[in-house]
Amino acid sequence: MTAENVQSKPNYGIDAPGLVRFFFIAGAVALFIFLVVLFSSILGQMPKIIVGTLLGIAATYLLGMGCFMLYGSKVMKLKDTKKLLNLVQWSGSELVLDVGCGRGLMLVEAAKCLTSGKAIGIDLWYQHDQANNSSAAALSNAATEGVTERVEVKTADMRQLPFPENYFDVVISSWAVHNLDAETDRKKALDEIIRVLKPNGMVILADIVYQLEYAKYFELRGMTNIRFYNNAIRDVILKAVTFGSFAPSAVSACKNA
Ligand SMILES: C[S@@+](CC[C@H](N)C(=O)[O-])C[C@H]1O[C@@H](n2cnc3c(N)ncnc32)[C@H](O)[C@@H]1O
Repeated sequence: MTAENVQSKPNYGIDAPGLVRFFFIAGAVALFIFLVVLFSSILGQMPKIIVGTLLGIAATYLLGMGCFMLYGSKVMKLKDTKKLLNLVQWSGSELVLDVGCGRGLMLVEAAKCLTSGKAIGIDLWYQHDQANNSSAAALSNAATEGVTERVEVKTADMRQLPFPENYFDVVISSWAVHNLDAETDRKKALDEIIRVLKPNGMVILADIVYQLEYAKYFELRGMTNIRFYNNAIRDVILKAVTFGSFAPSAVSACKNA
């Protein structure tokens, strides 16, 4: 990548772009029908109030969810990532794996903590999970942040990591493991994370759901120092408005020596 085509700011994309699009389109349709009902005489006074109220609530909810998902991808996740990476006592020489790195948000931030170490990201680059997802996008963000020489990306499935056991000092992952729908698949990914982690190594798993499932499985597999990182007030509000489908927080654990 030449100096001329290095972008001036990193772009970590938008998660679940199809869902975000759905919320905005459905919200706009609900808003349009709401306005038609409100300003026309199609319905009598009482039906107008009932239908108008329901449509108003639907439009507010759908548009709110769309905005909220954008905020999650563009602001909340970035802030959380920086805080979570501060949990590691970096020496600078670590070998780090980012599982489901996407456009490289955690990967690049981790690389900034390294001197002689390396941050490796793996992904299958699903477009439905992140807009314009690719290894090139991750490398472009690494170039923008000046960490190209400390970053590597590979195409791989998190259920079958192409690394030997006891290889990484730190394994990180952000909003990726929940994309595996089956619990057995999520456990396969966690098994792989544990396998490639060095004894005394640390995993930090940030996600939008299933954090308790991850913690229980880590415990079952003999991991220690299992900790949760969440903002209790934010958690309660988000779980309530998203019916439990979106409450970002993280779990960390260490592999026994
Ligand atoms: C919501 S994105 C998050 C990306 C990135 N970690 C971030 O926080 O910006 C989820 C990522 O998981 C990846 N992914 C989904 N299933 C995967 C699998 N089985 N193996 C590897 N990556 C996967 C997707 O391609 C996508 O890049």
